[in-house]
Amino acid sequence: MTTKEKVFKILFDAVDYVNGEEIATVLDISRTSVWKAVKALEKDGVLIDSVKNRGYKLIAGDLLNASEIVEKAIDVKNVKITPESASTQADAKKDLEENTLYLANAQEQARGRFGRSFYSENGRGIYMSLVIKPHVKFSDMPQYTVLTAAAVVQAIQNLTGIDTQIKWVNDIYMNGKKLAGILTEAQTDVESGTVTDVIIGIGFNFAIQNFPDDIKDKVTSLFTQHPPITRNELIAEIWNQFFYLLDKDYLKIYKDHSLVLGREVSFEQNGEEYTGKAVDLTDKGELIIDTDQGQKIISSGEISLS
Ligand code: BTN
Repeated sequence: MTTKEKVFKILFDAVDYVNGEEIATVLDISRTSVWKAVKALEKDGVLIDSVKNRGYKLIAGDLLNASEIVEKAIDVKNVKITPESASTQADAKKDLEENTLYLANAQEQARGRFGRSFYSENGRGIYMSLVIKPHVKFSDMPQYTVLTAAAVVQAIQNLTGIDTQIKWVNDIYMNGKKLAGILTEAQTDVESGTVTDVIIGIGFNFAIQNFPDDIKDKVTSLFTQHPPITRNELIAEIWNQFFYLLDKDYLKIYKDHSLVLGREVSFEQNGEEYTGKAVDLTDKGELIIDTDQGQKIISSGEISLS
């Protein structure tokens, strides 16, 4: 454990203020080192109150911990944390190390589908991208976005009992607002037609209290001030569910948590606007919609709920 992690643990376990002198003695370090560790924690988005003659108290936030995640997430071989990344998706694509999870406390240029941005708050969200190397033909590739969405809702359910929904195709919703988004990108070898790398990015609002005005009506956070679980625990559970569900019926979980099945939706196909009832999903995760102009199947794009 680093000094920063040790200081965090002391503050995390304490119920009240802990004196800087006491922390220094316990860890056998100088008071300056304690102060430096506190500053480093604050830089990671951890909120610490410091009061003269009383010491430090943890107010909010947790610390990403690579070794804890590797230990808990069975199939994740390596975790690389960049404190302030432009985008973990870009970090992952640059490195492409198999079964490696690229994590960040904050992102400056997080991207979602259709080049949209994804709001990030230092230390309060989960921003991560996993690289896997399936080496199968593109047509045989599992529906990774569907699988990941199922893994996210299942992980939340397992750890917190909270029921979340999936808005086709890649958004996780809670109480009618967006909680998380998934971005799956694949790279294929042109010669052999096999998928060499899949990069699965997840942006998750974990403990964000205030969102900017322009998005605050559309997005939500799993927790606000005092989460009963840590980001490390949720990250590990998401990837454990992902690998566990890989050869299971993840489409069923996806359907069971669908926000759109049975509802009126609007969408665009080949430049035409349609409205209809979302009735089912194909085995490939495409959405089947009954419209006045017949049944339509859409594999990508955006739908709006009426
Ligand atoms: C979406 O809402 O359309 C998907 C959002 C995906 C955001 C995540 S955050 C981690 C990874 N890095 C990125 O730049 N994007 C993904």
